Amino acid sequence: MKPVPKIAITGWPVTHSRSPLVQGYWLEKYGIEGSYVKHAVEPEDAETFYQDLAKSGLSGCNVTVPYKELAARSCKVLDDAAQKIGAANTLWLDENGDLNGANTDGLGFLGNLDQQIPDWDKKADVGVVLGAGGGARAVVWALLSRNVKKVHIFNRTVSKAQKIADEFGSETIAHSWDKIGDFLGAADILVNTTSLGMTGKDPLNIALKNLSQTAVVTDIVYSPLETDLLKSARERGNKTVDGLGMLLHQAVPGFEKWFGLKPEVDEDLRKLILKDLGVDI
Ligand code: ATR
Repeated sequence: MKPVPKIAITGWPVTHSRSPLVQGYWLEKYGIEGSYVKHAVEPEDAETFYQDLAKSGLSGCNVTVPYKELAARSCKVLDDAAQKIGAANTLWLDENGDLNGANTDGLGFLGNLDQQIPDWDKKADVGVVLGAGGGARAVVWALLSRNVKKVHIFNRTVSKAQKIADEFGSETIAHSWDKIGDFLGAADILVNTTSLGMTGKDPLNIALKNLSQTAVVTDIVYSPLETDLLKSARERGNKTVDGLGMLLHQAVPGFEKWFGLKPEVDEDLRKLILKDLGVDI
């Protein structure tokens, strides 16, 4: 008989992770035998922990900060997203005992858009991405995977945007932050991946006047659920998608891999996580 899967969110720290709540919701909803726990990994143990995951009694795990890059380096097999993004957030041991890794942030971004605006990528030739951190890398990978032809990346520190552009190739172009207005007019999709606009952070002050009304606007920030960017975009007639769905959808491939069933991101799950986050709707 197959052993009952024991999975964990791993990182340092892991106290605030919502992953156990999300995975636990699905385990209960589908009546699946298995567990999903929090497992803090101390920095001095991290390298051996991921290289010898089986020793910890886990059959797979999620990885959060600061170990996503280390986790990718520890894997024998990586999916395309993890290879290109250079970081893995979902790990499992295959039938040979080899460590496999995936990066599901980009898939989560796409799953969220597909659920909220099913035809968003019918005409999505030009993407504008704000920010150049790990979230931006996942979004750039996701947009290119849906054949967006040009992705313009804007970042306060332009060298970080340039690094992504160099890695992802000629469809991605880096720009300094002050040039956003010049490129908004061409955008079919605008994505904020910076922390600007998040509760307690500086506001994201960009003028949307050049943006086409048919452009989709989305934010990976989910607290507040409707950021000022999304509010301004909605009020001028653009379709908008909030960031909570990305958080939930990125958990789908892991659950499917570990527990053998593709779970649904439903309204009750959104409500559960919003309540736990204390986010006003
Ligand atoms: P993550 O990996 O989660 O995407 P990150 O690496 O901390 O997070 O990236 C945060 C992004 O928000 C970066 O693009 C950062 O810009 P820098 O690369 O210049 O640091 C951006 N950001 C954060 N605070 C900002 C601010 N006050 N003004 C402009 N950009 C900001």
